[in-house]
Amino acid sequence: MGLKYIWYGHGTSGLETGGYKVLIDPYFTDNPAASAHADEVEADFIVVSHGHGDHIADAVAIAGRTGALVISNFEIVNWLTAQGVEKTHPQHIGGGFKHPFGYLKLTQALHGSGLPDGSYGGNPAGILLTTNAGEKVYLACDTGLFPGMTLIGEEGIDLAVLPIGDNFTMGPDDALRAVKMIQPKHVIPVHYNTWPPIEQDPHAWAARVEAETSTQAHVLKPGESFSL
Ligand code: NI
Ligand code: MN
Repeated sequence: MGLKYIWYGHGTSGLETGGYKVLIDPYFTDNPAASAHADEVEADFIVVSHGHGDHIADAVAIAGRTGALVISNFEIVNWLTAQGVEKTHPQHIGGGFKHPFGYLKLTQALHGSGLPDGSYGGNPAGILLTTNAGEKVYLACDTGLFPGMTLIGEEGIDLAVLPIGDNFTMGPDDALRAVKMIQPKHVIPVHYNTWPPIEQDPHAWAARVEAETSTQAHVLKPGESFSL
């Protein structure tokens, strides 16, 4: 065990496992909730869940500075390659691949994926990582509630990272239903309080989770981390 999850604010996360740093949905510049700068964050790998600017904005710059390999869907990888990103690995929904840091599978997400310049970004995804030590982490990324979360839960999830902001993604009520479907050991809420339309009380949500499920809810401030 020893997986470390870092919340950088909004939908931007980091995972540290087996000595590797995996950065997910890098959005620092112009992110009102960001806890770090794009020019200082470290990454060996970058995963992009979908094409929206609040998830991909700093991917090209950070990949260029760090030399990180970028993992995303086929369409986004093609777009990143055209932007000058040199090291990429395309996957697609339902497909997993054994990377050095673990087995990463892209899952269904109910959302959009248009890229910042209007290019087609394929279908949005969630991320299911099985580390080399066997821990399972599910980042739903931007999504509405969908029945397949029950299937994801059947994998035995140690940590789920779920959006609770409402408006663009699941809100608190549906995110609570998601916890009941996934039944993770631990859950962390994200994608809230960045802007007024997604203002939520994460502590109230965490209290509901712990009252109605056996999952432990952890509310982080941007920049804080949680370790399994
Ligand atoms: Ni989005
Ligand atoms: Mn988003």
